[in-house]
Amino acid sequence: MREPVNLNKETIVVHDPHDERHYGAVSFPVYQNSLFTFKTHEELETALALEVSSMIYTRGNNPTVAMLEDKLAKLEGGELARCFASGMAAISTAILSVIRSGDHIVCVDGAYGPAKKFMEQYLSKFNIETSFVDGKDIAQIEAAVQENTRLIYLESPTSLTFELQDLRECAVLAARIGATTIIDNTWATPMFQNPLQYGIDLVVHSMTKYISGHSDLVGGVIIGSQKHMDELFASEFQLLGGILHPQSAAIFMRGLRTLPLRMQKHEQNGLLIAGYLNTRPHIIRVNHPGLPDHPQHDLFKTQMLGSNSLLSFETDISMDNMRQWANSLQLFRKGISWGGYESLIYMKELSDGKFIVRLYIGLEEPDDLIRDMEQAFDSIGCGIK
Ligand SMILES: Cc1ncc(COP(=O)(O)O)c(C=O)c1O
Repeated sequence: MREPVNLNKETIVVHDPHDERHYGAVSFPVYQNSLFTFKTHEELETALALEVSSMIYTRGNNPTVAMLEDKLAKLEGGELARCFASGMAAISTAILSVIRSGDHIVCVDGAYGPAKKFMEQYLSKFNIETSFVDGKDIAQIEAAVQENTRLIYLESPTSLTFELQDLRECAVLAARIGATTIIDNTWATPMFQNPLQYGIDLVVHSMTKYISGHSDLVGGVIIGSQKHMDELFASEFQLLGGILHPQSAAIFMRGLRTLPLRMQKHEQNGLLIAGYLNTRPHIIRVNHPGLPDHPQHDLFKTQMLGSNSLLSFETDISMDNMRQWANSLQLFRKGISWGGYESLIYMKELSDGKFIVRLYIGLEEPDDLIRDMEQAFDSIGCGIK
């Protein structure tokens, strides 16, 4: 039976092709094996000659993982995806697939901390230098470019202050100077931003977050062109070996089936809570690009399809009092890894002595969350009345 083409994202996540090998099992089975064997030695040789697409050994290909990769590539509008044991495994592999000793990287300042540390501290051991720039204005990125710049590393929006880079402009600049672009698209998910369509070369996600959606898995993915991903398979993917386990791939697929629905609710909840905070006394600034008064809201509208529920704010209340506020919250857990169903709070001290409050809004009813925040503000004497 021919598979339908040009499916919408909502259909891609729920539709698995009918597969006679699996007795019509509605969910794709877990191929819980490291090894694939062949009836004849000739068949083994044929498979080895086409290692990139053959089922030989699970450090290379595995049908359950391949099914997840196929869905993720389609959701991002890319040719090929490869899954990894964590978002950091995907990020470090993607970077290593692009740079060589002596190269220079331009990276946005607000990128995920360990990704920055990998570039700044780890890669410097191999004579690779990284310049960090704000990135809100393309001129800042351009000014940091050197003759040996081979990679522009983006994260848009960033995941603490939610600043955007103009993806179309970054892709044009990279093409002009012969550099590759990588973007961490974890915040937006494939539902709300598809950077490959603007000319970005590689998309990475921490699947641990919204793609899993249940705070029970760790994983990552790289999506890009067949050419780049096939080369990456033969080198960094197979040699570093940070692959995703087939069991995890099956559970990721279960989470993926509700991604479109969950993201709708996260978007609604995120905007409601951001709007509430925006009008509340003692809140100086709310960082959420979906808010109409966000300084980059116009850019948001031109390159994103929606927004979601990880946001931050600055307040004139002291950090000690805000710690008390956080501890008074009954519905927000204290934790860092977002993307699940449960709301979270995390506060971070910044280098200038200020601090930022990051909220992750889960799938609870937003009225309950607002009432919880209000009772916590009352408890520290910062109630509305
Ligand atoms: C924006 C972003 N990118 C990448 C990562 C790394 O992903 P993982 O923890 O799955 O390695 C994280 C994890 O917190 C993240 O928030």
